[in-house]
Amino acid sequence: MASIWSDNFSLNIPVIDNQHRKFFEIFEKVSKGYENKTSEELDALIGELEEYLEFHFEEEEKLMRESGYKWYEAHKKQHTFFISRIEEMRNEFDYLNPMLFNKIRVFIKKWFVSHILHKDFDYKEDVAGIAPDGN
Ligand SMILES: [Fe+2]
Ligand SMILES: [Fe+2]
Repeated sequence: MASIWSDNFSLNIPVIDNQHRKFFEIFEKVSKGYENKTSEELDALIGELEEYLEFHFEEEEKLMRESGYKWYEAHKKQHTFFISRIEEMRNEFDYLNPMLFNKIRVFIKKWFVSHILHKDFDYKEDVAGIAPDGN
């Protein structure tokens, strides 16, 4: 499967880029053959994505705070909103219907891509100076 990651997503901050890349890797795993999975398996996969998102958001928020990024609060709100939206969808939908699973899957990908390009890019200059190298 072609990777979702594209260099257009790169903030040139290795610690962040690696996490974004890792998220897409998990996303690809979640997407593969979902039509043939049970509701329990699908819920576990969405759970894995959500858990990684929570980890990533915490890391990102820490760096934004440390850098004194001006729009930290607004950015954090976006993260919180996204997690609560995923939670809502998980409660709403019956995972036995693969079409509904697909809806959640597509929502997560679209939101995440748009968030990188429009919101994460905005802290780039501030965070670049203080972020550690690597993972
Ligand atoms: Fe973010
Ligand atoms: Fe991010």
